[in-house]
Amino acid sequence: MADNNTVGTTGHQWDDDEGFPLQEYNNPLPKWWLYSFWATILWAVVYWVLYPTWPLADGFTKGILGWSMHGEYQQEMDAAKAKQKVFNDQLAKLSLQEIRKDNQLWQYAISGGKALFGDNCAPCHGSGGVGVKAGGFPTLADDDWLFGGDLDTIHETVANGRTGQMPAHLQAAGGSFSDAQVNDLTAYVLSLSGINADKTAAARGDALFHGDAACNACHGDKGKGSLKDTVNGQPPPPVGAPNLTDKIWLYGGDPGIVRDSIAKGRTGFMPAWAKGSKESGRNLDPLAIKQLTLYVHSLGGGQ
Ligand code: HEC
Ligand code: HEC
Repeated sequence: MADNNTVGTTGHQWDDDEGFPLQEYNNPLPKWWLYSFWATILWAVVYWVLYPTWPLADGFTKGILGWSMHGEYQQEMDAAKAKQKVFNDQLAKLSLQEIRKDNQLWQYAISGGKALFGDNCAPCHGSGGVGVKAGGFPTLADDDWLFGGDLDTIHETVANGRTGQMPAHLQAAGGSFSDAQVNDLTAYVLSLSGINADKTAAARGDALFHGDAACNACHGDKGKGSLKDTVNGQPPPPVGAPNLTDKIWLYGGDPGIVRDSIAKGRTGFMPAWAKGSKESGRNLDPLAIKQLTLYVHSLGGGQ
């Protein structure tokens, strides 16, 4: 038990009956603690004088240093903007091919392009450009292209948009072929991708494909599409007709879906994005179009 002689008391005591009084000790706080306590108070006062602190009716005390969080933020933003401007000026000046060769600039461009893609393109093309089958939105991350995967062609596609028009062939849908003929064409198209189909039906479809229906005029003599095929030794017109032999489908490779494509036709619409293009609402500036082009090109199928 503590001894009254070594520990000071406040002199206040109760309950003296049994010789063990209840006393109130007086234990002063350690010196180091007191000094730090005073130091924090002093620090607060100095801080109030130097920095903005107290709210006033019309704002707050500004502090004699004139520092403000907003000012610091503004400074940092200005510095970042200045840095960005250097890059953006370069992007504006150089051709897509030149930017592609400058690694640092290219990285900058595709990171901006990625953000733009997420905001504008992912709803149709999927995040990362993996495509959305059901809607006929092509995958941009492979080397299967409707219109072309080189920088200039991608740029043209993004800036001015594209429309892919597959005509309807079934009589009931405005075409000139019977149900049976559409079935034959379906069998032939499936056989091009190595999908099991009735051989005699496919042979009749083959004749139609290269004859009366003239599918080859757009899809090419081998069915390899606008970009990879030829028609009578000439390149087909650049109408965005897909390769029908690679098992990569815009709408789907199930027999029913392929038949629908042939019977009713399909229209694929890619909006134009450049400022001033016919379509309202999609108003990306030339810098954004360049960044998007480089990003799409970087997804894996760029040529
Ligand atoms: C409203 C849906 C939609 C949006 C949004 C959209 N696209 Fe497309 N895009 C399409 C469709 C559909 C096609 C295929 C056109 C066709 O079938 O001919 C396409 C085709 C393309 C192609 C050509 C692919 C090829 O194989 O040649 C590129 C490149 C492309 N889009 C890039 C973009 C970029 C970049 C954006 C964003 C700025 C974007 N798209 C936004 C629907 C869209
Ligand atoms: C005028 C040119 C043209 C002709 C002729 C044409 N096609 Fe197409 N075809 C296209 C285009 C363009 C597309 C892509 C449509 C789109 O972008 O949405 C397409 C799409 C298709 C598709 C869907 C492919 C997929 O990946 O989902 C099939 C199947 C097809 N065509 C088969 C045929 C057959 C069979 C014929 C003949 C009976 C034919 N096409 C005639 C231009 C043509």
